[in-house]
Amino acid sequence: MSKLQSIDVTIYPDDCDAYGHLNQAAFLRVFERARWDAFGAAGGGLPSFKRAGAWPVVRKVTVDYRLPAFPGDVLEISTDPVKLGNTSLEVHQRAQRKADGALVAETQLVLVVVDQDGNPTQVPEHVAALFAGGGRRVTRAGEVMRCSVGDVTLSVDVRGDGPALLLVHGFPLDKSIWKHQVATLSGWRRIAPDLRGFGASDAPESGYSMAAYADDLAALLDRLKVDRAVVAGLSMGGYVIFEMLRRHRRRIAGLILCDTRAEADTAEGRTAREEMAELARTRGAAAVAERMVPKLLGRTTQQTQPPLVQQVTEMVTRSPVPGLAGASLAMKERPDSTELLATIDVPTLVVVGQEDVITPPAVARSLTNAIPSAALTTIAGAGHVTPLEAPTAVSRVFAEFLDAVREA
Ligand code: MLT
Repeated sequence: MSKLQSIDVTIYPDDCDAYGHLNQAAFLRVFERARWDAFGAAGGGLPSFKRAGAWPVVRKVTVDYRLPAFPGDVLEISTDPVKLGNTSLEVHQRAQRKADGALVAETQLVLVVVDQDGNPTQVPEHVAALFAGGGRRVTRAGEVMRCSVGDVTLSVDVRGDGPALLLVHGFPLDKSIWKHQVATLSGWRRIAPDLRGFGASDAPESGYSMAAYADDLAALLDRLKVDRAVVAGLSMGGYVIFEMLRRHRRRIAGLILCDTRAEADTAEGRTAREEMAELARTRGAAAVAERMVPKLLGRTTQQTQPPLVQQVTEMVTRSPVPGLAGASLAMKERPDSTELLATIDVPTLVVVGQEDVITPPAVARSLTNAIPSAALTTIAGAGHVTPLEAPTAVSRVFAEFLDAVREA
């Protein structure tokens, strides 16, 4: 557990009793204000509770008053998250006189988070993250973390130890397309974020571009203290990687380009992006799912894996509308990356589903041919979402490639 930012509070006469010192009841208010400010500074303040329709109530408080405090004293109040339950928090606070560091009082509180009917409810995710180390970082269920990267917080699945493998999903999907690779590629630190606007990451109304996605990923690597990573991207994830090559090339130790292309959109394609953004805004994510899922999944998957069709439909339907519209327009504006290909000087694997109708095998072949020493693997029986449609085969080719990169 990490300390949150300490807050300085000045004591005024109206906080004080007839004897001129800080009244014990007023002291509780001082601690409470400092607590809200500390949580807020770390990204888990009032808005986090409001968004979740939840509220913290004090269940138990013990205070140890050591010294009096007087008007004009400045107290430095530290707030330490101590324990996180499903619906409760435990916090320790200390008030020290700023002038000489003397401990004036300390308190230990148990707070229960309740919903609007007063029933205990789950601690909001941003607040829970404060209890897992590193202030703004980290956990709730499993190993899914929340990481602040500039103006947004990303939801990120991080597993394992070793050299880093960053997995970047496509449109209109989320990090769960990599779940088999995240679960199985041991010996690597697998990092699978939801891009801004997708999955459980923040979805601001605006701020979407390939540059923003690429900068978020570089900031994410910073937060996770990763210098260089092998970066795998599916489709739009590949477009983001091309932007990373332009802006953050040094961070890339190897490339896996799945079901993607280097060319910019055609004029017709650009119009289709505008229509897609409009569809998302006017008819919602379910309409995007209805239009996209038949193209995303291969013929074989559609015939033989109905639960997967359902899973991908639900994934798309869960996507936030600002993220869908923002990504469509960001793809429309993406530059052509074909000239970049000849400059790629890290080990590169290209993967494509044999039944991919969005970026078909012929596109993958020309992509591979344009990158010095890239290799191509075609996955039988899969469409555009190869890591989900043929998880075992994809994880196997990833593992072979990663072994070779590690040995190189
Ligand atoms: C994707 O899977 O990311 C999209 O199909 C990319 C695109 O529409 O160009």
